[in-house]
Order: sequence, then structure tokens, then C-alpha cells
Amino acid sequence: MKLVLGVIFVAIFGYELTQYYCSNSRGEPLSNYTFPDDFKFGVATASYQVEGAWNLNGKGENVWDRYTHTHPEKIVDGSTGDIACDSYHKYKEDVALCKELGVDFYRFSISWSRLLPTGFISKVNRDGSDYYSKLIDELLSKGIEPMVTMFHWDLPQPLQDLGGWANPKLQDYFYDYARLLLQLYGDRVKYWITFNEPKNVCRFAYGGPLLAPAVDSKAVGIYECAHTILKSHGQVYKMYDEEFRRSPEGKMGISLDMMFWMVPATDSELDKEAAERSLQFNFGWFANPIFGSGDYPEVMKKFVGRRSSFEGFKQSRLPTFSKEELDEIKGSADFLGLNMYSAIEASHVEFENSTDEISMDVDIQASYKFQPEWETAASWWLKVVPWAFKDTLTWVKRTYENPTIIITENGISDKGGNEDYNRVKFYELYLNAMLEAMNEEDVNVIGYTAWSLIDNFEWSDGYTNRFGLYSVDFESPERTRSPKLSAKSYKEIIARRRLPEETVQIPITQRLSARLSLDEVVPSSSTALTHSIQLTLILILTALLHSIH
Ligand code: NOJ
Repeated sequence: MKLVLGVIFVAIFGYELTQYYCSNSRGEPLSNYTFPDDFKFGVATASYQVEGAWNLNGKGENVWDRYTHTHPEKIVDGSTGDIACDSYHKYKEDVALCKELGVDFYRFSISWSRLLPTGFISKVNRDGSDYYSKLIDELLSKGIEPMVTMFHWDLPQPLQDLGGWANPKLQDYFYDYARLLLQLYGDRVKYWITFNEPKNVCRFAYGGPLLAPAVDSKAVGIYECAHTILKSHGQVYKMYDEEFRRSPEGKMGISLDMMFWMVPATDSELDKEAAERSLQFNFGWFANPIFGSGDYPEVMKKFVGRRSSFEGFKQSRLPTFSKEELDEIKGSADFLGLNMYSAIEASHVEFENSTDEISMDVDIQASYKFQPEWETAASWWLKVVPWAFKDTLTWVKRTYENPTIIITENGISDKGGNEDYNRVKFYELYLNAMLEAMNEEDVNVIGYTAWSLIDNFEWSDGYTNRFGLYSVDFESPERTRSPKLSAKSYKEIIARRRLPEETVQIPITQRLSARLSLDEVVPSSSTALTHSIQLTLILILTALLHSIH
């Protein structure tokens, strides 16, 4: 009897305990590729997500201030970025974390309303310009390059009141703002990013409820938004190139997102076309004018044009560029910033005659779903599909004639906690896929940025989903930062310039859920619960063994 119970004990808990306590043991093999000597590693954040100090020292209101204050019900936990990680006061600590990691650069964004409280050039907030100046100096003094994003979604509210990016006049206001940034910091900043993920801004801030200001412009404003942003980008790049590029080392690019790599749902030609069309609508929309043939993708012109005329519009909802605009936009980047996350399956949808819904999905004629076996992160949209990274990079290389690429974001969300084995593994697998693309497909990737340095305000998910290498105690006024396992492993990868030979082995209780929805993802409190149930069972079994004795 004792023996039987002993066997049961080992069978049930043995594997689990080795997994948990021998967490340094490793699993799947990783390739032997190494990172080139001049390859650059970085970490990223964005102003609204980390700074806080929303109304301090002259800062003006932006669309996220307005949205979170007036629509707390739209944010999962009703939170705001009013204080966030308090990086406004704690920027030196953030820089110290960058130093601890050993990164080459820190990607952060500038809050337009901190610098220009009304959005317009007429009034510059001295405190705002000093803040970024001090941050840049602090970085440089520690040997870390600043990589500055000019616009990461926090548009000054007065500009939104004029219609935001759907108003072509924004091009002038962005030009003034960008010029000021180049005048103020152009001598010290070598890497500039004009816009972060413009596709998401246009689709989700002007086409539905996901991002502020959540205007539903019925697939009219979303195309106008993109048009203004592309023209703004082209004009600012020209200004940089002609007036501000101090040395050949100075670079300006744009960060485009591959939120989803598109996988055809079946082998049918129609589904393959739907996947490629979805890539063109989501990525080519911005990439083709800048890095490709120099205009919106043909397939977009055709599908939006046909749909618009069916709907009774006099002209396509997709605007057209003048010859001068096209010339200015084409080639207007020294690198392609790529934000890489997830994958989704695309299926063809026939032209819909019976709906009067005007939307981008209807324009694309595709429907989407996740493969059930893909593991899910805490964010519902983020599936762990490392091979999609290699496919994305290969596709980008072939479609845009081998551009210079900097991965400006890549990372995974969880529900918090410093024992973030899933994040450690995510980085190992995604970096491995990137190395394969570089070595086997000759993709020209020169840098990589982990999203994010610290846990922060994750837009409409508030603080419920965490992406940081360092956790932040949002309960404490100190907003104490502490390293997660992933910080240590990223640091090691940077120092060794190679991946470990095998991936980290994840304790079974911490594994990501496959086939589960967002709400079913195991949060850390359930992990603790599972452990206490196991402990109770162990105690009962031990007591039984004793009583037999
Ligand atoms: C992309 C955005 O640029 C960033 O702000 C966001 O937090 C991450 N993706 C994760 O959703």
C-alpha cells in the first residue's frame, strides 16, 4: 500500500515539482546563430503609457487624458495614465534600468501636449522641453542612444477638436511640432521615428471604440487619417534630410505594425489572396507609399474604389495623392521600424450585396480567426506564433526590396508577477525566428527593441495586462520597479550576443493557455491557488503514508 501511494505521489507531483523547482532546465533547441557585433538592442516605452504628470507644469490635455477621464467604462479597470509609472519624475531610474540591461538604445516618445500645450507652435512649454532635454542628456551620459518617437498616439485635444488626423490641416501642425523637436534635440538624437503604428491609430481611433478618441468615422475618416499621416511623414522626412541631418549616422524612419501576420485559412487560391490582400490593407497601406512602388497598393485602390461606388459615393473613400506628394513620400525613410506581435488566419469573403455597413473589413472582403492551438498571451489578440516573425521578415524583404529594418517593438503580455517564464521563452523563440530570417533569408535587420522596459498603461486594457521586463508596483506611490526573470535573461542575451542553446522550461502551472479565451488565461493568483491545492494534497498523502506506517 505504501509503495502504491508512493508511486501515485511521484506520478502526480514528480514531474510538476521538477518543472517548478528545476526551472533552469531547458527545452526546445534554439539555433546557433549569433548577433552581429554592430547589432543594436533596445527597449521601448511611450509617453502616455509611462510618464504620468498629466497636468503638471504646463502640460496640456491630450486625447487619452480626455478619453480616460470622460469614459472610464471604456478602460477595462477604469484606470488612467494620470500617474502611470511616474516616469516624469523617475526618468533617471528608467535610464538606470536601461543601463542595467546593457541596451544600446532607449526608444521613448515625446508628449506633444507637454511641449506644446495647445498643440500649436504659438506656445512652447519650457518645462516640457527641459524634461526631454534632461532625459536625453541622462541617456547619453550613460552611453545609451535615445531613439525618439514623435507621435505615439497622444494627440493634443485641441487638435482633435478640429477633427484630428482626419483633418488635412494636421499636416501643418505636425510639421511645426516636428521642426521644433529637430531644433531642440536634433544635435543629440540620431534615431527619429515620425509615427508609431499609424495603421492602428487610423483603424482603431477613427473606426471604432478601441483607441482614443474612438471616433467611428465609417471607413471614411480612417483613410483620411492615413492620408494626412503619410503626407506629414513625407514632409517631415524631407525637412530632416535637407536641414537637420547632422551626419550620415542620423536616421529617420516610421514604425509600422505587423499586429497580425496573415495566414491563409486554407490552401485555396481565394484564401491565399485574402491573406495577401489583408497584408496589403494593413501593412502595405503605409509601407507601399514609402518603401514600395510609391502609392497605395493597387489592390486597395481596386477594392475600396469598387465598394465606394457600390455604396453610392461619388469617388473612392480612399483619397488620392498628387504627383508631388507621391514623390515626397516615396523613399522617405532610412529604416523601416517594424512592430511584431501576433498572427491570424484570413479567409476570403464574397462581395457583400446586402449589407450597408461601411467598414474596412467589408472593403477587404476577408474574415479572420485564430488557430485554436496557438497559445494566447493575456491580450486576446496576442498569440505566440514565432514562425510568423520569420515569415513576416521574409515577406517584408521580398515585397519592399530588402529595406533596412529595425524591430521597434516585440513583446508579450501576462497578468503580472516577476517569475515571467513565458516572457523569457517568448523572447527566446521570437529572437530565434528573427535570427533565422537574418541568416537563412538574408533579411537586413540591424536592431531589436523589447516592448516594454517597464509594466505600463496598456491603453484600453489599463493596467490589467503587463508587458514589462521590470514590474512596477502601481499600488505604491513610489511606483517601485523590480526586475523580472525576463530582464535577467534579456540582459544575458545582450551580453553574450547569442541565445541559450535551448529554451527555458516553463513550470507547468505557469504555461500559457492554448484554446482559452482572455478571461481563462491563468492569472498569477490562480497559479498560487493551484500550488496551495497541490500542497494540501501532498500533505494528505503524506499523512496517509504515515498512518499506514
Ligand atoms: C503597440 C503599441 O505601440 C504599444 O503602445 C502597445 O503597448 C503595444 N503594442 C502592446 O499592445
